[in-house]
This record gives sequence, structure tokens and C-alpha cells, in this order.
Amino acid sequence: MTHPQLVLSGMQPTNTLHLGNYLGALKNWVRMQNEMPCLFCVVDMHALTQDSGYGKAGDVRRATREVTAAYIAAGVDPERTPVFAQSMVAEHAELSWIFNCVARLGWLDRMTQFKEKSGKHKERASVGLYTYPVLMAADILVYKATHVPVGEDQKQHLELARDIAQKFNNDFAVPDFFPLPEPVITGPATRVMSLRDGLKKMSKTDESDNSRINLTDSADAIAQKIRKAKTDPHPLPSETKGFEGRPEAENLVNIYAALSDSTAEKVLAEYGGQQFSAFKNALADLTVARIAPIADAMRRLLADEAEIDRILRAGAERCRALAAPVMAEVKRVVGFVT
Ligand code: TYM
Repeated sequence: MTHPQLVLSGMQPTNTLHLGNYLGALKNWVRMQNEMPCLFCVVDMHALTQDSGYGKAGDVRRATREVTAAYIAAGVDPERTPVFAQSMVAEHAELSWIFNCVARLGWLDRMTQFKEKSGKHKERASVGLYTYPVLMAADILVYKATHVPVGEDQKQHLELARDIAQKFNNDFAVPDFFPLPEPVITGPATRVMSLRDGLKKMSKTDESDNSRINLTDSADAIAQKIRKAKTDPHPLPSETKGFEGRPEAENLVNIYAALSDSTAEKVLAEYGGQQFSAFKNALADLTVARIAPIADAMRRLLADEAEIDRILRAGAERCRALAAPVMAEVKRVVGFVT
């Protein structure tokens, strides 16, 4: 049996979204709406797994609305595509428990993101942070979604989701019950790096605000951050093999390529041999042209919180209607009296 094509993806409402979230994921979501049905959620339950969200109800609620506004401002159409908060569809949590019993400790022990996020004091991390990728598998599979557009850093979590789907299908002798969801990791900027250090991922939690372009930054702030971005003293190379040992140059060129729907090769054909100062001016103009309108639209949307909440509730209602029958089937398959 082949499963009907369906896209699901999500982002955590912790801090403000940045250029990495946009180029690695959101920009591809907007395009995929024209290719297959999509569902986009704000994963508020995942936001509780770390100190940045835990115990901060007001922050999570505000960030959930802000992320919703960012989706819509970037071009997700909530009339066509349900946009909802994960906690509004209880089936995600329900399936997650069953998947906790399918996934093996050894699989989770290999997750690099848990190791990074728990840091030196693993014993102080929440249990939720550990089982985080299991909830993520439930987010996807509770709809039997087949395609998951994400940045490079989510690849390992998606492999785990596939392993869980496969083991469930085998253990309960229901071949092909769950699809094996495919990661969609495309474009020149699947891993946008920090503007201060080309070896570190651009991240919401980096202590330096200059390391990232936030989707809410003003035009001036965007231009300044790009002009201050770390580079090296050499001119831009003419071919991508010249990026060897020059991660900052590679990152800025990839950002330019992604923002202009081009490729690193084409960008270098135009700017190769030039100094960074000239390239940075062009990159600043391009980034402002692409990102500032998103920030403006977000501000307009956020002025009407009731409307954002209405969009989330309407999206959740449509998603519950999809998730409930899958969950009913799962309960029957695992042997619960229903
Ligand atoms: P999150 O909230 O950390 O990031 C949201 C999306 O942005 C991508 N991303 C990046 N892409 C390129 N360069 C970067 N520097 C960068 N930083 C972040 C991420 O890959 C992601 O696509 N676990 C997920 C949320 C999630 C989810 C899901 C995703 C929960 N359930 C189900 C897909 C399907 C996360 O923490 O993303």
C-alpha cells in the first residue's frame, strides 16, 4: 500500500525565529503547499522540555502566537493549510506514550541533539528532553504524514521516526500501517551558521544576538549584523571548492543563494574575486528585501491576538478530525479495549 502524500512539520515556540529557521524550513514549507497537502504545527509541548520554556507560561503563549504569525507572514495560507498548536490535538501526546514503549533506550542514547542540549549535567535534564524525538515521531505519524521538510539538524530525529514506524509495523504485525516518513532537506541553506562563528549553527539560544538575523529584526539591525558578520581577509573564491577552510565565506554565499533562489555556484560566478565589503552590501540589501516584509506582516498579525487564536483553534479542529481515526486504529492494533 502506498500512503497518500502529506506534509507535516513544526517549530518550537522558544525565542524568536531566525534566518536559519526560515531558509532551512519555513521557505520550503511555503513552496510545498503548492505540491501536496500540508499541516504545520507550533510544537508548544516540545518547548517545555528545556529551561527556556519550562515554568514560563506567558513566554510560551506569546511565542506560540509569534511563531504562528511568522508562518503566515512568510506565506503559509491558513485557509488552505491547517496551522495549529501541538497541545491542542491531544492525540500527539497519546501516540507519543505508545511510541515510548516502541522506541529503545539505545536508540535515544545515540541522539546528538540530546547530548548537546543536556550539556555536562545530563542527570539534571528533563525526561521530556530525552524523549523529545519520540514526541516528534508522534507529531508526524499521528497523521501518517509522508514528507517532513526540516533543516539538516533534524535528520537524525527523522531517522528515529522511521525506525519507530518500522518497529511498530513489525511488532504489531501490521505491515505498512505507518509510512516511513521522508525528510525533505533541500536548498543551499539547510544548515545556516552563526554570523559570528562559521563552525557553529545559527541558533535561537546563542547568547550573542549578532550571531543571528531574527525574523523580527528591523531593516537597520539586519544590515548592521551582516556588515559586522565575521569573514576572512581574502576575496571571495570563484568556485565552491575555494570554500575549503573558509566556513564564514561559505555561509554568507549560501545565505545569498537561498534568499535569491539561486545556487552558490551562480553567486560565485557573479561575486568571485570581489572583496567582502561589496558582497556584504549586496547581501544586506537582499536580506532586508526578503526579511523586512515578513517582520512587518508579523507585526500586523500580532496586533490581533484573537484572530491568531481563532486560526490556531480552527486548524486544530481540522487536525483532530484527521488524528482521531488514526489513534482509534492504533488503540485497536495494540490491544486496548475501545
Ligand atoms: P526547531 O524549532 O529547533 O527548528 C525549526 C526548524 O528550523 C530548522 N533550523 C535550521 N535550519 C537551517 N539552519 C539552522 N541554523 C537551523 N536552525 C533550525 C530546523 O531543522 C527545523 O526544521 N524538533 C523540531 C521541531 C519539531 C518537528 C516535529 C519538526 C517537533 N515535531 C515534527 C518536524 C516534524 C525542532 O526543534 O525544530
